[in-house]
Amino acid sequence: MSRPASGASVSPASSSRIVLGIESSCDDTSVAVLEGGTRLKSHLIAAQDVHRLYGGVVPELASRAHLELLPALVRRALEEAQIVAREIDAIAVTCAPGLVGSLVVGVAFAKAYGLALGKPVMGVNHIEAHLHATALEHGPSEYPAIALVVSGGHTELVRVDDFGRYRWLGSTRDDAAGEAYDKVAKRLGLGFPGGPLIDALAREGRPDAFSFPRPMLDQPGYDFSFSGLKTAVALAAAAQGEPPYPPALVADLAASFQAAVVETLVRRTLSAVENERAGTLNLGGGVACNRELRARLEAECAARGVRLRIPSPRLCADNAAMIALVGSWMLDRGTLPDPMLDAEAALEASGLPLN
Ligand code: KG4
Ligand code: ZN
Repeated sequence: MSRPASGASVSPASSSRIVLGIESSCDDTSVAVLEGGTRLKSHLIAAQDVHRLYGGVVPELASRAHLELLPALVRRALEEAQIVAREIDAIAVTCAPGLVGSLVVGVAFAKAYGLALGKPVMGVNHIEAHLHATALEHGPSEYPAIALVVSGGHTELVRVDDFGRYRWLGSTRDDAAGEAYDKVAKRLGLGFPGGPLIDALAREGRPDAFSFPRPMLDQPGYDFSFSGLKTAVALAAAAQGEPPYPPALVADLAASFQAAVVETLVRRTLSAVENERAGTLNLGGGVACNRELRARLEAECAARGVRLRIPSPRLCADNAAMIALVGSWMLDRGTLPDPMLDAEAALEASGLPLN
């Protein structure tokens, strides 16, 4: 079904190729039009605020919202890019990993649209897109680079030698960094998503008010674990009773929790940069919006002469621009559309080399 209709061809020249990107792996629906692999002609991200009512993403509601939002977003993205549908050369869609129902909606939409237009549909790996999102603003990366992807679903530390050449260094063994932020925020009686709220509150609190663990730093390797830290914060909060807590206490808990997360991410990442002799560090994922993480890495990388490339917040979080970018690079590389394109929920089964 995802084969281009007969007579359809991939864009003739990569410098003018127009790729429509579609992202729907979690709760954000996003559509982008990218020209020549570099010029973002339009980029829309619809946040599904309904999940705030439940303190977390409700998969069924996310799928339904993607279904409702995608046609209108595509229409608007084409308008803003000032193109008509037949000018699209290819469609790039997130096919893995993520919430399977959300992925299925995006993939089915892309396949149907591609078939109707007679255009190829490229399935893009969401994590691979986060690894490279920074190239949209900072241009091509130098290699070897270390990439840290920190989001609500993933904490991945990867050595990148080129587009498509990766060595997985470490992942979280339990909760992702963003998931820990969200769960701690919920425990403290704050809203969802918790990352930006804790980030803001932490500036009013004392990072040394509570002595929380720096998980796994005493162990070799590059894996992470945030579940024990989350429990440590919950226990410290429970010792003070139930929410609502006094604002000063919440700020101290937020600052101390954030200090532990940031310290862990920074120390692990810098040791990967040093051991792999990488001159560049690329960041991606929603947690890369974190002010403390950005500031610490900026200072540490500057002191070591390491180029640090962090996308602006819109390109850190889930977005279709990075999907269009990787789709465009796949076409440059000569990758053919997969006739069996389908949604795949797990990173392990998504086709990326993880060793
Ligand atoms: O990449 P993303 O938009 O979606 C996923 O693929 O998960 O990341 C969302 C995550 C959420 O867990 C959110 O709490 C976290 O990123 N986040 C932050 C900040 N902004 C978003 N975490 C810490 N500090 C922030 N400023
Ligand atoms: Zn993501």
